[in-house]
Amino acid sequence: MKREQWGTRAGFILAAVGSAIGLGNIWRFPYMAYENGGGAFFIPYLFAMLTAGIPFMIMEFSLGHKLRGAAPRAFSKLGVRLEWLGWFQVFIASVIAVYYVAVIGWAISYLGFAFTQSWGSDTNAFFFSEYLKLGDNSPSNLGGLQLHIAIPMVIAWGITFAAIFTGVKGGIERANKIMMPLLFLMVLALIARVIFLDGALDGLNYLFQPDFSKILDAKVWSAAYGQIFFTLSVGFAIMIAYSSYLPEKSDINNNAFMTVLINCGFSMVAGILIFSVLGYMAQEQAKPLTEVVSAGVGLAFVTIPAAINLLPAPYILGPVFFLALVVAGLSSHISIIEAVTSAIIDKLKWSRKKAASVVCGVGFVVSMAFATNGGLLLLDLVDYFINNVALLASCLIELLVIGWLLKVSDIRSYVNSISEFTIGKWFEICIRFVSPIMLAIILGTNLTNTFNNGYGGYAMSDLLMLGWGLVAAMFVIAVIINVASKPLDKKEG
Ligand code: ALA
Repeated sequence: MKREQWGTRAGFILAAVGSAIGLGNIWRFPYMAYENGGGAFFIPYLFAMLTAGIPFMIMEFSLGHKLRGAAPRAFSKLGVRLEWLGWFQVFIASVIAVYYVAVIGWAISYLGFAFTQSWGSDTNAFFFSEYLKLGDNSPSNLGGLQLHIAIPMVIAWGITFAAIFTGVKGGIERANKIMMPLLFLMVLALIARVIFLDGALDGLNYLFQPDFSKILDAKVWSAAYGQIFFTLSVGFAIMIAYSSYLPEKSDINNNAFMTVLINCGFSMVAGILIFSVLGYMAQEQAKPLTEVVSAGVGLAFVTIPAAINLLPAPYILGPVFFLALVVAGLSSHISIIEAVTSAIIDKLKWSRKKAASVVCGVGFVVSMAFATNGGLLLLDLVDYFINNVALLASCLIELLVIGWLLKVSDIRSYVNSISEFTIGKWFEICIRFVSPIMLAIILGTNLTNTFNNGYGGYAMSDLLMLGWGLVAAMFVIAVIINVASKPLDKKEG
């Protein structure tokens, strides 16, 4: 069966950028920058982007392009005993897919609320008590299914399914060609308005004011590296799958640089947007900015709605903000599901339509765990372990395999032979030394901290089952598939 292909180069870049730009850029990055030293955070962040982000993107684009397979097939072509790493990455994508869609679902609900700001004046109580109906729950005591959360999630699944079912060119590429320009336009329009609000510049001062004392803090570096892999969609099977649909003549280096720079540029823009709004809100409420800012989920679903209440024309700016969040999330969700679907097509030789139906069907059922009273807690716990343990471990192993088990100079010669501009020895140094050393330190620290202190005050049994247990199960099942099933493809000569 001939492998599907992107229609145009721009189509591929938009899809890769669509995957990279997601919820991570809008609700994770701005707060992370603020919390980890403001302007000074950009030093570790740019360092991580240059030494890990760009080399990783070039490496994954070349694996997909050269080996013509989703992650399991690509790794199995590098060595039959490496197929498990591909499956481990596919499992990371699968887990992310089921909770990511819940956040998109909330954003769809909030898009509706935004027209009349029906979240009221106490946005905190509204989100946790009225919307999520979070009570005396825990990650293992989820309560009942909440239809008002499940229904928007069905909409999100429907859009993802339509894109994946239709195929690479007609579905995924077409969806991104509509979504990405729309997203850029919406965000630019929002910035053009909020930047002129009173207090906006104070907000930006907060974001960009460097606190250099934080630069020596290991936590800040860990945050920067962790963010880079998630935001660039590398290390969890996505970019390998996407680049496996590239035509033979493809400029890998250029594509990789563009994808990374557009994504990280967008993060800055999102930071400017969020902090202009926070600056305005602080001014309106005559409070210091430190009192209005909040983290992660709270930022998008508590603080921003409160800020929207105060904005001029909230019935326009509010829906535009949440529509941007939905669009950014959906284009990433499509890529996460494609990473899983393409792996199944490769392995089981199913048709795209069958694989898409099974993956989205099973994904939908599992994702309903997050549409419950305690869904947020489960999401928080699983997201922590996936990002701070599984994803970093996957990236570290991938670097060690490519950098030390195989010849990374082969990748450099390969990409240089097909790209317009060539990359130097720095690429090999980053893949073999800089990134693995940084990752090993960060992963080691995360493992020790989590082992000693747990996470988020959750019960030990929940941590063991849904955190450590989940990651261990993903690893074991990946190895079993590798050992027990017929090899996907023989090693490339
Ligand atoms: N790269 C996607 C994001 O940042 C997954 O949300």
